[in-house]
Amino acid sequence: MHFTVEAQNRVRDWIAPGDIAIDATAGNGFDTLFLANAVGPNGLVYAIDLQSAAIERVHAKLDEADLSARVELCVGDHAELERFVRGEHRTRVACAMFNLGYLPFSDKSIVTRAESSLPAIRTAASMLRPCGILTVLAYVGHEGGREEADAIADWVAGQSDQFDIQHRSDSTNPNSPILWWVQRRISSLDAVQSLVRP
Ligand SMILES: C[S@@+](CC[C@H](N)C(=O)[O-])C[C@H]1O[C@@H](n2cnc3c(N)ncnc32)[C@H](O)[C@@H]1O
Repeated sequence: MHFTVEAQNRVRDWIAPGDIAIDATAGNGFDTLFLANAVGPNGLVYAIDLQSAAIERVHAKLDEADLSARVELCVGDHAELERFVRGEHRTRVACAMFNLGYLPFSDKSIVTRAESSLPAIRTAASMLRPCGILTVLAYVGHEGGREEADAIADWVAGQSDQFDIQHRSDSTNPNSPILWWVQRRISSLDAVQSLVRP
């Protein structure tokens, strides 16, 4: 199965109508469209990309599918996630997707880098609600890709107290993409809060 399809399959069961989701690398909009369908008319997707040309294409795609009303399009660096996501949504994100690397058939010098993707992943993880899930798909074949994947692997290795973490890569291919899915556990505090909430 293609890694991008698997990333969507990993989050599918954890998003419901009315949810908040983030596509941190909107690119050609495939994940944005998937998330917009999943959150329904009362949910919201933040779709972020560094390239305004990408965001314009995503906009056109969403218009065509009549899904624009449920997506907030953001041009900028995902390292500034806090700037894009409204205060009231910062603790209730159901899903965040990162498909790293560069946009296929586009300028390959505009590529995600550990200096920004890692802070963005950390921030997105801090915004997940209990059982919220984050996917990171990293590519190692391009310049800086291996360092980025290593930095993410290091970060992931330190998160097992709060998150359930799994990953997949093709062990027969040294340049295989790596997909992580990281799901926030329900803490005892979450459990108590759910009992006292009216
Ligand atoms: C592999 S593509 C994403 C494909 C997309 N998920 C889709 O479904 O079509 C990676 C995207 O990350 C964007 N990108 C690179 N650095 C970024 C950054 N610091 N912040 C936000 N987006 C970035 C690129 O412009 C590119 O569109």
